[in-house]
Amino acid sequence: MIMNDKILTDKRFIDKLNIINNIEVDRCYCRHNISHSQEVVRILTGLSKDRGLDNYEELSFFMGYLHDMGRADDYGGLHNVRSSEFARAILKDYDIDSDSIDIICYAIENHSGRMPINDIYTYINDNVIETDIKDTWAKLLRIADQLSRDCYKCKAASACRWLPEEKTVETWKC
Ligand SMILES: [Fe+2]
Ligand SMILES: [Fe+2]
Repeated sequence: MIMNDKILTDKRFIDKLNIINNIEVDRCYCRHNISHSQEVVRILTGLSKDRGLDNYEELSFFMGYLHDMGRADDYGGLHNVRSSEFARAILKDYDIDSDSIDIICYAIENHSGRMPINDIYTYINDNVIETDIKDTWAKLLRIADQLSRDCYKCKAASACRWLPEEKTVETWKC
């Protein structure tokens, strides 16, 4: 259990989550609710643990839970930037060192975008680590975000703007 899990009951966090839930109440595509965050935390924890990254549990936890919270402020725009700003503002009140905050905020700011699913599998299987640790985390957060979605059983898949090669398949569930 991470000591900082009290962020999940932090009013600032809950307020963002509630705003997003209200915006997405009729959304037919993937939502950005607490279940999505939990799934990103789970996958990111596994990927970063496999690479032996320092402090992987805490970093995965905060990245997973905070990466989309900026949607409350700028839903269809630069939510990655807003999420990073929110993460920096809230994390200063938590017991976490400044280097970790920098890594978390950098990864969140750079988490948008998707890759062809086959490139993701290659990246995972080759256990790639980027030159700069911040880029490794940004890439892994992006991958965990994409793999958290179950495109193969999504009723809106045919209308979704994700490219066919970006959609997740059941045979490779992380
Ligand atoms: Fe996002
Ligand atoms: Fe996300």
